[in-house]
Amino acid sequence: MKKINACLFDLDGVLVDTAIYHYKAWRRLANELGFDFTEKDNEKLKGISRIQSLKLILEWGKIEKTPEELQELSQKKNDWYLQMITHMQPSELLPGSREFLQELKNRGIKIALGSASKNAIIILDKTNIRHFFDAIVDGNMVQTSKPDPEVFLIGAKLLNVPPQQCVVIEDAIAGIEAALTANMKVIGIGDKVTLKKANLVVAGLSEMTFEQLNSL
Ligand code: G6P
Ligand code: MG
Repeated sequence: MKKINACLFDLDGVLVDTAIYHYKAWRRLANELGFDFTEKDNEKLKGISRIQSLKLILEWGKIEKTPEELQELSQKKNDWYLQMITHMQPSELLPGSREFLQELKNRGIKIALGSASKNAIIILDKTNIRHFFDAIVDGNMVQTSKPDPEVFLIGAKLLNVPPQQCVVIEDAIAGIEAALTANMKVIGIGDKVTLKKANLVVAGLSEMTFEQLNSL
C-alpha cells in the first residue's frame, strides 16, 4: 500500500511566485506610513492572513490604528496586490509546479490546495492550474490561519484521506508548523535553515521527485 495518498499544496511561494508581490505591496504600505521592514521580517508574514500580517507590520512600525483604519489599510494593500496578480500568466508558475502536479495526477495521488489567501482562486485561474485540484481550501473557508492546522485538516477531510497519509508542501514557517500539528508530513520549499522543522527541504518543486515524497 502507498504511504502517501494525498498532497496538500500551499500556493504563494510554492506553486507561484506571488510571495514577492505580497512583499512589494506590504512594503509600499509600510513606506507610506513612514517605516520599512526587511526580507527577513517578511518571512514572518508568509502563510498568515492579510489582517494578521497588517497587525504585525504596524507593530514593527509602532503604529496604532482603529479597526476601521485597519480595514482601509488592508483593502489598500489588497488593491495593489490585485493590480499585480491580474496580469499573471501561466509562465509565472514556479519551475516544476505544473510537471509535479501532473505527475501526482498520473499516479492517482489526490491533490488539495491549502492556502491562507482569499485571492487563491484568481491565481489558480490566471495560471491555468485549477483543474488539478480535487479540493480547494482558501482564506475564505477558515476561521483560524496557519500555524493553526485548520486549513490542512479541512483539505484532508474534503479529500477523504487520513492526515497520516497526507503530505503538505509549504514555504512558510507558519505553514510547516500547521502541517506538523495536523499530523502530516511536510516538505519545505526554500532555505534549509529557515525551514528546519520540515521533514525535508528542497529549493523548489523542480528538484522534487515522487520517490522522495513517498519515502518521508
Ligand atoms: C498567503 C501568503 C501571505 C498572505 C496570505 C493572505 O498565506 O503567504 O503572505 O498574507 O496568503 O493572502 P490574501 O491574498 O488573502 O491577502
Ligand atoms: Mg506560502
